[in-house]
Amino acid sequence: MSVSLIFSGMQPTGNLHLGNYLGALKNWVKLQDKASCIYCVVDLHAITQPQDPKELRAATREVAAAYLAAGIDADKHILFNQSRVRAHAELAWIFNCVARIGWLNRMTQFKDKAGKNRDNVLVGLFAYPVLMAADILLYHANGVPVGEDQKQHVELTRDIAQAFNSMFKVDFFPLPEPMILGEATRVMSLRDGTKKMSKSDASDYSRINLTDDADTIALKIQKAKTDPEPLPDHEDGLEGRPEAENLITIYAALADRLKGDVVRQFGGQSFSHFKKELVDLAVSVLGPINAEMRRLAADPGHVDSVLRRGGERAAVIAEPILKKTHEIVGFLKDGG
Ligand code: TRP
Repeated sequence: MSVSLIFSGMQPTGNLHLGNYLGALKNWVKLQDKASCIYCVVDLHAITQPQDPKELRAATREVAAAYLAAGIDADKHILFNQSRVRAHAELAWIFNCVARIGWLNRMTQFKDKAGKNRDNVLVGLFAYPVLMAADILLYHANGVPVGEDQKQHVELTRDIAQAFNSMFKVDFFPLPEPMILGEATRVMSLRDGTKKMSKSDASDYSRINLTDDADTIALKIQKAKTDPEPLPDHEDGLEGRPEAENLITIYAALADRLKGDVVRQFGGQSFSHFKKELVDLAVSVLGPINAEMRRLAADPGHVDSVLRRGGERAAVIAEPILKKTHEIVGFLKDGG
């Protein structure tokens, strides 16, 4: 099946970093040439963990600004925050009455997030993947670019679509495909090449934030952990050298080149030389994004109006699909 409509989303958490850019945003930007895209800031998902209302609003704007700064075209495609389109929550409820507890019990992200104290976990956190299924199926999206960690949720979305279709003997919801992009771009911590780059890492030197200026980016790359050997001249030589592998991966992703190609260029050279090149590259790619994010932060009214218009356009697609779903389920309407 060829992908014609793409849906993806990201939670409104502050401090977006290089991992979010290379792992998600950069790929989303590229997909705009291949299909119609709907990109969402998933604020309904955010409240599955307690949020400060003011911070939630600020983070929603900041993430939307990052989408725009990275190159999402909100005129050609659709960019909005999830809570503006009520149909997401409504379809999620219907899907709560399709999905099985056993399916959700198997979700590894829930198990990780819930930890041991299951009785205290919010019902919404448990039902989170059902809402994600609603996000996607509400538009009949058939392609879902996600990281490896979300693949299981897209598979659940397929199960829910299939279960709905067979429950009501219809062929209504399509089965969306997970698109695992940037597989090679697992961006790891600059302090420990075996841990993912994360906004919750205690050390700010572990990550490059999209809000970091050029000097901060340079300092963080200069301080990034390495090992004593020069760089290998073949990709195989990166094995067992997580920090070298991470820095090469970051270079390749930023430059849109293959890792093997980058290794051939820098093979045998010292980290200090390579890091200088990496700083120049990182600053040249991230500098303009950073500048645009600052510009947008100073003009929140603009971001808000983009999201409002995006929400209106999203609703135009979602409403007829929700309406048809109501008919299939048997909800009584005037004239129905
Ligand atoms: N659960 C996703 C994450 O945490 C975000 C998300 C919500 C999403 N709804 C989605 C991603 C729909 C893709 C499609 O990364």
